[in-house]
Amino acid sequence: MITHLQDNVTLNNGVKMPGFGLGVYKVEDGDTVIHAVSSALNNGYRHIDTATIYDNEKGVGQAVKESGIPREEIFITSKVWNDDQGYESTLKAFEETLEKLDTNYLDLYLIHWPVSGKYKDTYRALEKLYEEGKVRAIGVSNFHVHHLEDLMNDCTITPMVDQVEFHPHLTQNDLRKFCQDNNIQFEAWSPLKKGRLFEDPTLMEIAETHGKTVAQVMLRWDIQHGVVTIPKSIREKRIIENADIFDFALSEEEMKRIDEMNKDERTGSNPDTF
Ligand SMILES: NC(=O)c1ccc[n+]([C@@H]2O[C@H](COP(=O)([O-])OP(=O)(O)OC[C@H]3O[C@@H](n4cnc5c(N)ncnc54)[C@H](OP(=O)(O)O)[C@@H]3O)[C@@H](O)[C@H]2O)c1
Repeated sequence: MITHLQDNVTLNNGVKMPGFGLGVYKVEDGDTVIHAVSSALNNGYRHIDTATIYDNEKGVGQAVKESGIPREEIFITSKVWNDDQGYESTLKAFEETLEKLDTNYLDLYLIHWPVSGKYKDTYRALEKLYEEGKVRAIGVSNFHVHHLEDLMNDCTITPMVDQVEFHPHLTQNDLRKFCQDNNIQFEAWSPLKKGRLFEDPTLMEIAETHGKTVAQVMLRWDIQHGVVTIPKSIREKRIIENADIFDFALSEEEMKRIDEMNKDERTGSNPDTF
């Protein structure tokens, strides 16, 4: 379990990945994303999660540059979009991503969704990029167990990460166990359920016990589960609040109470029907 904001998990290839980061889904490119990423970096974040489809890689790159923090101290993830899947088209999309981010390598490159009939070719391109040293780690997003099993039947490099929707209403027990058993780091998207659980009585009660906010309790629950988490906010106050979760601990009973909130309820698409 990570114990501070810049603490790392170790991926199956030995690469260290900060266990806490900033997500920038739906954050407008330009001033807004630059402000969000700068706020995060100024407040100790060292991990930014973007994607081609977010259309803000340019601003992310600019904020990273302007921070003055050495590139190698910041962990940047991006993802190949569905329309770009396939071998050659992924290689091309990757070069465009590097150009927009104004960097010569990525820390983590993910397949955004398991596009049927294409994700294996896409993954072969990721393996090539990895072997060429253009990306330090590769993985997938929104893969169910059956997608991972299918991919792992053919690939030569086990994915290092699976980034999926995860919050107290979607606890993904089988997938988490599969990832643990196969040394694939489980990473949460929409860890705050996009703000839809802030009035939940169980979470409110636990938050009050600790003098913390519901957002902080949800993110602490991720950390104690060994799940990498990337809450999104464009507001500096919340960016600071979300990372201020290393000075308290949820009891075993509190962890269990939150686990039991599961409803298998998604805010996003089901990877089988997206
Ligand atoms: N791989 C995928 O398919 C996929 C899909 C979705 C998301 N993601 C990644 O996961 C990241 C996080 O997921 P998400 O953006 O969907 O949702 P989220 O992090 O669960 O929730 C973000 C929402 O909560 C608000 N918020 C954040 N901190 C708060 C706080 N302390 N108090 C009150 N409200 C707060 C934000 O508003 P403000 O910005 O106004 O503060 C925003 O509306 C994304 O940004 C993206 O990087 C990946």
